[in-house]
Formats: sequence, structure tokens, C-alpha cells
Amino acid sequence: MADLKKLTIDDKIRIITGLDTWHTVGVPAADVKSILMSDGPHGLRLQVNEDGQTGDNLGFNGSAPATALPTGSALASTWNRELLSKTGDVIGREAAAHHVNVVLGPAVNIKRSPLGGRNFEYYAEDPYLVGELATAYINGLQAHHVGASIKHFALNNQETRRMNVNVHVDERTMHEIYLAGFKKAITTAKPWTVMTAYNRVNGEYASNSHVLLDILHKDWGYQGAVISDWTAVDDIIASLKAGLNIEMPGNQAVTPAIVKRALAEGTLTEAQLDAAIVPILRLVEKAELQPKTPVPIDLAQQAQAAYEIASETSVLLKNEDAVLPIDKDESVAFIGAMLDQPRFQGGGSSHINAKYLTLIKPTLATTFNEAKSQFLTGYHMDDTPDEQLIAEAVAAAKVHRKVVVFAGLPDKYESEGFDRKDLDLPSQQNRLISAVSAVNDHVIVVLNNGAPVTMPWVDDVAAIIEAYLPGQAIGQVIPDILTGKINPSGKLAETFPQKLSDTPSYLNFPGSINDVYYGEGLYVGYRYYDAKAIPPLFAFGHGLSYTTFAYHDLTVTPTNDCLQITATVQNTGHVAGKESVQFYVSDDSNQVSCPPKELKQFAKVALQPGEQTTVQVEIPFTELAHYDIDAHAWQYTGGPQTVIMAASATDLRLRATVDLPVVAAPALPVNIHTTIGQLLANEATKAIGMQIINGLAKAFGMDPTSDEGSSAGFDQATVLAMLNDLPIRALASFSAGAINEHTIQAWIDQANQQITPK
Ligand code: BGC
Repeated sequence: MADLKKLTIDDKIRIITGLDTWHTVGVPAADVKSILMSDGPHGLRLQVNEDGQTGDNLGFNGSAPATALPTGSALASTWNRELLSKTGDVIGREAAAHHVNVVLGPAVNIKRSPLGGRNFEYYAEDPYLVGELATAYINGLQAHHVGASIKHFALNNQETRRMNVNVHVDERTMHEIYLAGFKKAITTAKPWTVMTAYNRVNGEYASNSHVLLDILHKDWGYQGAVISDWTAVDDIIASLKAGLNIEMPGNQAVTPAIVKRALAEGTLTEAQLDAAIVPILRLVEKAELQPKTPVPIDLAQQAQAAYEIASETSVLLKNEDAVLPIDKDESVAFIGAMLDQPRFQGGGSSHINAKYLTLIKPTLATTFNEAKSQFLTGYHMDDTPDEQLIAEAVAAAKVHRKVVVFAGLPDKYESEGFDRKDLDLPSQQNRLISAVSAVNDHVIVVLNNGAPVTMPWVDDVAAIIEAYLPGQAIGQVIPDILTGKINPSGKLAETFPQKLSDTPSYLNFPGSINDVYYGEGLYVGYRYYDAKAIPPLFAFGHGLSYTTFAYHDLTVTPTNDCLQITATVQNTGHVAGKESVQFYVSDDSNQVSCPPKELKQFAKVALQPGEQTTVQVEIPFTELAHYDIDAHAWQYTGGPQTVIMAASATDLRLRATVDLPVVAAPALPVNIHTTIGQLLANEATKAIGMQIINGLAKAFGMDPTSDEGSSAGFDQATVLAMLNDLPIRALASFSAGAINEHTIQAWIDQANQQITPK
């Protein structure tokens, strides 16, 4: 690692802000090279050319030709860790070939509302799935000595007022839902950098949040460099003190002077500045491992990997009477302006200049029997009503056996920078689909969008493929799914609601003025639909195949530190296929209140017709822990648990119940607010709890050892239940003075001695 001592004070105050939009400051005299960063999560978006810098960070300007991979929603739908690793690998190769040191991804914020403008870029509504997939992506990328920048840490779940909105979130929800995915990826895959978010969290900007940055550094032991999102720094001195290392983009005209002044005034010490610089030096050290003469990149070969990844991203939502796949000789009408103007990627900082973009229409034209197929426009991309286009589509739908409508959200409907206002497709697309379904029973809808849409015609069409934004391979994978060359194996990583008002954050999204309250707490995504028994349009984890799968023989065996799970999955249909099996756990112990079930494992298997395989997975007990807000720590408590093997969050197939030994939570210090129930619940303080009950019983003239109960007819169990939530402070007045303050204090002291004996 470069020697901190070789840096002058001027070097130090320059290095903590970038050099420009994409570089950090290099100090050759101290062997500190300049680091080059580049977006983005779904392909390299390099905006720096031979002559130096070009471009912006919002995707307005062009970038170097690259491979466009499926976006986050699509990648997560693969439920395939290997493909996420391959995604990182593809991007890592290109980054290394261009001497890029850090790629600004993966983007892993939880999808709190389906309206979120960046949902196309984010993975899922579930933190376990997010953490697993992000880990795989980072490992694939960093194998090329290219660092990841996991983003946006944290709670960047909306675009509306993203640069100053203050997220009000409770501590348990923050840890269990919004930080758990980051925690898994950061602690296991060790991304070189973490990018802080724009928003505020409980009053502090994420870039100077002691709460967030202490969790990152102190609780998770993160040693890498923390960089800001572009222009996210509000107060550089506060940020440096809280644990930020590099402000991006470079603000050389302003920041060094501020830092210099702070040093002079003593509001920042040189030791604090040094502490901020050490992780930058570690980052440079890692970047030095990248080969100086990179392997030249073969974009044609990369395109093959893009196809492989995209071949598992589409989700077959519905397929009545096996209307899909379509025989190449069938008579088909292909309808939709999106055939000519495909939406294959997202807008904003992840926008890629795809070198090998494939188009759906030419592939369909060469694949299907020309004499029996027809192409029609159906609607205008800008949603202008056009009766003529609909009439032509209806006429074609009457004569062809099958109709495939290509629909979705044009670019202007969803992007970084703004949220959607509703969940609807453009109105003319909905009209078209309803009109053709009225005259044809074999309508297939192919959707290209980054996030859930409503489907008023869901019962009228025969099949629906949610193809999301599959990247440059769009023109190969969609025709291949239609013909059955690819058997779809994607499953939703987010719930599709029936209507916007069903969504968990409906009453609190995007908040008002500067604040948003995460009032739904832990109940995000399927956790909410489960708890409220609201049937979704399509559930989290749902996705069909051209074959069928049966699940058998679930066994769950507890060991000292995990649940060992085995189960059989069989392909019961006639074609080869892949199935993602999901393992949810329902905590039946009633020790803490929690959602009805939570995803804790998954596995994807590939099976030939008739073939079966044994799935073997483990769920470490640490995955079953809950965040305890009194202890400010994760606590695993054991007790009865049900493991549910499922094909989706609503297609639950097999269950196995285990009774794990109860692990008492470490006792917390007892004070006047501690309740009698809390004393009784803990082995160390149980005896004091009983002593109090006896004292109270005596004060009321009852015999605590008898079942007879009180003179008013309350039995002992009822009396105990009534006293359960009584705080110790209330004992004096509750007993009308029979128990005095001295006795109470003596009990508290005695209880605390039991917890931490001297
Ligand atoms: C985005 C980041 C991106 C950065 C650089 C910001 O506006 O929020 O995700 O990496 O720009 O382009």
C-alpha cells in the first residue's frame, strides 16, 4: 500500500474529492494512481475517451460501445446465482480491457413501491434474494481486478426528491428489510467500494450518516472505500468525520479549500483526514493488480454471454391451453410499435451503447412462415389514439390463429430521476389488447418494461410473457421463447399487484414535502400481501414453464448451526426445463412479531423430461435471526419453525416443522420500565419476576400458590396475563403503597446482579 506519509497536506486535501466526473486524484510522487470509475450495473458505460473526459453522469451523452445486459429486474428474475456471477464477469472483462478500475454497481435497493423510477435497475423486494444475487455479481466482477461499488447505501427507494427526501424508518425495518441485502453482499463479497445514497435517513444525509456509516464500519467491519453518489455530499467535513472517503464527482474548485479551512479552524484534525485517506490507498493497492496490458475484448463473444443470461430472465406469467410455444408454420399476427422501437434497457446512468443490439422483428420475419404471418403497428409509441391502427389489428386478429402483442413502457415512462405516477401501460396499448382479445382466443402479450404494470385484460388473453428489459439479446431471446427454443424459467422477484391501492406503501409513497414515512414497516412486498391476505395479480416468485415440476420428500434436519434441507424436484412434463424452488420459513415461536413467512433459501435446477434431482441446501440459524431493537443487534431465538418449499409466495407445496432449542436473548439491564413479563421471560431474572408476583399477590391478599384466584373470581392465569405488561415503576401505586420504592429498587438491583453477576 502507498505510504500515507509520502502525501503532503495539499495532496491529502485534494484526494478526498474526485479529479473530475469519473477519476480520483492521482499522486504519482507518492505512488498513488488515479482510479477510473464507470457506470454501470448492466454493462459498461464508459464516457472517457482517448482525449480525456467526455460525457455526463445522467446518461444524456454517448459512451463507448459495450455489451448491454438485462437490467436488475430481469437479472433477479433468473433466480440464478451463476448467471449473476456471469453478468459481473462480462462487465469485468470489458472494464479491465478499458482500464476501468471501479464499476458503479450493483444497484441493490429494495423495491418498496412498484412506482419507483429505478425499479428496473434494482433487483427485488426481498433482502435475502438481493443479498445472494448481489454477492454473486460482485464476485464475478471483482475476479477481474475491477472493483464493484455497491449502491445506493442506503434507503434510496424512490426518485421523487431523491436528493433531499428524509426517509423515516424504524430501526428493525431498516436492518431486516433495507440493510440486510447490503450486509450479506458487503460482508461476503467485499466490494472495493460502497456508494452512499442521495437521500437523508432519519434526519442525516446518507453521505454523512453516523448511523449508516457506523453500521458499515463498526458492525460489518467494512475496510473498503466509501464514495458518495454523484453530488450527494451536503457537508464534506461531516462526511469525512462520519466515514466517507471520496466525494464524487470531483469538486476540486471548492472542496479542498473547505477542508483546508476546517483543518486550520480545528473542526477537522489531520488524524481524521488521514483516517479518511487510508481506504483510498487500499483501493489503489487493489487496482494496481489489474494487468497493465489487458486482454482485448471480443464484443461478439460477449454477446453470446449476454444471450445466455437473457435466456433465463423472462417470466412466463400465464399460458392457457399451452398456447405457447408457437409452431413456426402457424398463422400469427405480430402487433406492436415496440417491435420497431424495442425497449431493452433503462434510462439514466445505466444507459448503454449496445454494439450488438438484436431486433425482434427481423428475427421473427426470418423465423416464421412469411406467407402465414403478418406485422402490424397497433398503437403509437406516444400513445396518440389511432382508430385505424386498432381496426387493422382487429381485422388481422380475426384471420390469424394466434396474435402476439408487443407492449410495455416506452422510455419516458420510467427512468432514473423520476417515479411513475401510476402502474398502467399506455392507454392505447390496453385498448389494443382488449380489442384483439375480443375477437381471438389465442392472444399472447409480450411485455417490455422495468417494473410491474396493471393488466386490465389479464383474463381475456391466453398467455403473458413478462420479458422485462433483457438487454441487447432482446431480438434473439424473445423469438426463441415464442418458438420454444428457450423454455422460460424466470420467476418474479417482485409482486405484481392488482391495483396501485393494494401496494404496501400506497399511503406513504412518495411522501410529502421533504419527508417519507416507511409506515408499512417490515411488511414490504409479499410480506404485506401475505399478512393482509390480499391476492396479488402475480405473486413474488411466480413463473411458469413449458413443462411442469413436482416437489417431493421435503426433509429438514437441524444441526448445531443450520437447517439441512433436502427435497426432490421432478420434471413431470415433456420438455427440458429449469425450476427455481423457494424455501420460506415461518417463525412459529411467537417470540417476536414477524411477517407470516420469509424467503431464506432458493435453488435453481435444470431437468430433462421425467428426470428428478435432489436439492440440498442449508439455512444457517443466523438467517433466522431478527433484529432486536432493545439490544440493537440481531438475535437468533430458535423455537418452532416451519420450512415451506414453494414454487412461488402463493404456490406453497410442502411443509416441514422443526422445534429448535430456544435461545434466550441476552438479558438487558433492568430498570423501572422493565415489565414483569420481561423479567419472567428471562431465565436470569425469572426468580425476581416471581418474587414480585408473590409480593403483589400478598398485597392483594391472594395465595399465589393456589389456583383459586382472586376474590373477584379471576383465576391465576388471568391475573398473570394482566400483570405481564406491568412496568416495575407502577408497582408502588398498583399495590396502593404496600410495595414501596425501596423494595422496588432492591428488586431492580438484585435482577441486574443476576444478569451480570459481579
Ligand atoms: C446515480 C448513480 C450513478 C452516478 C454516476 C448518479 O446520478 O444515482 O447510480 O452511478 O450518477 O453516473
